[in-house]
Amino acid sequence: MTQETAPVPLVDPFARPITYLRVSVTDRCDFRCTYCMSEHMQFLPKKELLTLEELDRLCSAFIHLGVRKLRVTGGEPLVRRGIMTFFEAMSRHLDDGRLDELTLTTNGSQMRRFAGTLADLGVRRVNISLDTLDDEKFARITRWGRLSQVLDGIDAAREAGMRVKINTVALKGFNDDELFRLVEWAAGADHDLTFIEVMPMGDIGNEDRLDQYWPLKDLRAQLETRYTVIDTPERSGGPARYVRLEETGQKIGFITPLTHNFCESCNRVRLTCTGELFMCLGQEDRADLRAVLRANPDDDAPLVAAIREAIRHKPKGHDFDYSRQTVRGRVSRHMSHTGG
Ligand code: GTP
Ligand code: 5AD
Ligand code: SF4
Repeated sequence: MTQETAPVPLVDPFARPITYLRVSVTDRCDFRCTYCMSEHMQFLPKKELLTLEELDRLCSAFIHLGVRKLRVTGGEPLVRRGIMTFFEAMSRHLDDGRLDELTLTTNGSQMRRFAGTLADLGVRRVNISLDTLDDEKFARITRWGRLSQVLDGIDAAREAGMRVKINTVALKGFNDDELFRLVEWAAGADHDLTFIEVMPMGDIGNEDRLDQYWPLKDLRAQLETRYTVIDTPERSGGPARYVRLEETGQKIGFITPLTHNFCESCNRVRLTCTGELFMCLGQEDRADLRAVLRANPDDDAPLVAAIREAIRHKPKGHDFDYSRQTVRGRVSRHMSHTGG
């Protein structure tokens, strides 16, 4: 590589060090979760996608610039052909100590096939999305998914020695009646569990989003009717804040883009499968790194300069807001585009 030898770390205009890169490796998915995709998604033609080699080059440039945590997302990352080759490439950065964590966010459907290899490559924990434990509701929210396959994927991850964090989008009228069932299930299986407030991404109507919105302060109040909920200072490098339930000892996370903005401590940027760098999940600002990458096949200096320039434009935060009974700060691209 022809990069600087002792690069200055990436720091944005609000003095936030950028140490966490989320990389979406495909826009495709074998599910169609209603809050994430429309039923008939138009997917990108293959030539638009970064190759696995290009993904390696880009992520390695970020790691060289001080990124310590790499999360692979999608779409569903495990449906990208050859994706283990990419994990294998990234695991060299774990081996040489440049990366603290290599991980992924997945729907779990393909976990049985890949769990062993992922664990062998140094993946120690995975975040798996699961919004309900009811077969029929699972089929309804994912449109195409089968619950049993995901539960089996979760078991496979644990059997391979990885920790599992379940991500549950809190949806009023959908899984509010399952709060205790989900919590008890996670405690019984020793999985961490994180709830997420639903964000206004994609083309779903305003009213639907407001109807679905279940503020996590309400969810917490419901938890407190049965458990002693204790705040903890624990962090996992993402936006979640954690509590412990005294009675079970289990850890529960809250990701609250709507009721409590966590942007002031943002440490991350997102790379899409086409090489666009989004500086914030909730804003449109982006930089086209693919063009720079392809125009300079043998020289990383222009790429490094483009990354630095992009970070100089990282916005202060998202503008999502439902507080006036209307949806503000909406972003029209689908969650599957930027990978959550
Ligand atoms: P940990 O390493 O377990 O802390 O992961 P994480 O919470 O960073 O990653 P995960 O993929 O589990 O993120 C869960 C969800 O939180 C995402 O899908 C998003 O919905 C939301 N989220 C993560 N980062 C951000 C962010 O920077 N801004 C906003 N608004 N939401 C985010
Ligand atoms: N709001 C909040 N979370 C979302 N996810 C997808 N769409 C949304 C949304 N609109 C979550 C999924 C998964 C992760 C990739 O993003 O549940 O955990
Ligand atoms: Fe696929 Fe995840 Fe989006 Fe569901 S939320 S459609 S599993 S990418």
